Amino acid sequence: MRISGKDLSSRLKEEMAVKVAGLKEKYGREPHLAVILVGEDPGSVSYVTGKAKASEVVGIKNTTIRRSVDISEGELLDLIGTLNRDDSIDGILVQLPLPSHIDENKVIETISKEKDVDGFHPLNVAALWQKRPCTVACTPKGIIKLLREAGEDIAGKRAVVVGRSNIVGLPVAKLLLDANATVTIAHSKTVDLGSVTRQADILVVAVGRPHTITADMVKPGAVVIDVGVNRNPDTGKLCGDVDTEAVEAVARCITPVPGGVGPMTITCLMENTIEAFERKMQL
Ligand code: GUN
Repeated sequence: MRISGKDLSSRLKEEMAVKVAGLKEKYGREPHLAVILVGEDPGSVSYVTGKAKASEVVGIKNTTIRRSVDISEGELLDLIGTLNRDDSIDGILVQLPLPSHIDENKVIETISKEKDVDGFHPLNVAALWQKRPCTVACTPKGIIKLLREAGEDIAGKRAVVVGRSNIVGLPVAKLLLDANATVTIAHSKTVDLGSVTRQADILVVAVGRPHTITADMVKPGAVVIDVGVNRNPDTGKLCGDVDTEAVEAVARCITPVPGGVGPMTITCLMENTIEAFERKMQL
C-alpha cells in the first residue's frame, strides 16, 4: 500500500486555511513568510514555487525574494538582517543549497531563531536534542505525520534511518527516539546495510541515491519512508532511494516519490509559519 503525502497534505492545508482565516480575523493580518532564492537552479526554483503555491492555498502571505547567483555573502546577510527586523514578517527561509562562495552555516545562524521556520538554526537544533520547545525541521516533522497516517504505533518499534544529514537523518532519528522507537542510524560506511535494514519495522531512507534499498533489504510488513529525490538517469523521471514497486510487494506501506514526503515538507513549513506567527502575536 502507498501512503499518499499529497492527499494528507491537501487535508492538512484545508484545516490550516480555516485556522489562518480565524487568525486573520483575530489579529488583523495573515502570517507572512519571506522566501529567499539565490540563483536559478531549476530544482530550487521548483521548490520555491511549491512553497508559494502552498502559501496561497493556506492563506499565508508569501514574499519570494530572488537574488542573482553572484550576490555576496555580506549582501545576503544584510538582507536577512533587514527581514529579521521587519515586524510584518513572521518566517524567513533561505532556499538551500547556496552558491559555494556563501557560507550556509553563517546564513542559517543569521536568521533569527524566532523566524527560523526551517528549524535549522543551531538554537532550534539544540532545543530539539534537549527536548525543549523548538521549531522542528519540516521534512522530519512531515515523516512523523506520515507514519501516524499509516496507523503506525511508533513506540517500541525498531526504526532504522539510513542517512545522517543535519536536515533529515539526524532530526528524524531524534523524533523517532522521542516517540519511543529503538533507533539505529546507518550511513555510507555501514557494512552490510541489508543486515541492518532487515531489522527495521520503520525504515527511513534519506541518502539521495537510487536503488539504495532493494526488496531483499526490507522486513516483510515494514513501513518504508523514501526521502530521496533523484533523477533516474535512464528515464529522466523523478525517483526515490527505494525500488518502490519491488519493495511495495514486501512492505506494509511505502511513500511514493513524487507525492510522498515532498508535499509534507512544504505543508509542515506552512504549519511552522503559522506557529511562528501565533508565538509572536501571543507575546
Ligand atoms: N533545500 C532542500 N530542502 C530544503 C528545505 O527544507 N529548506 C531549505 N531552506 N532549503 C532546502
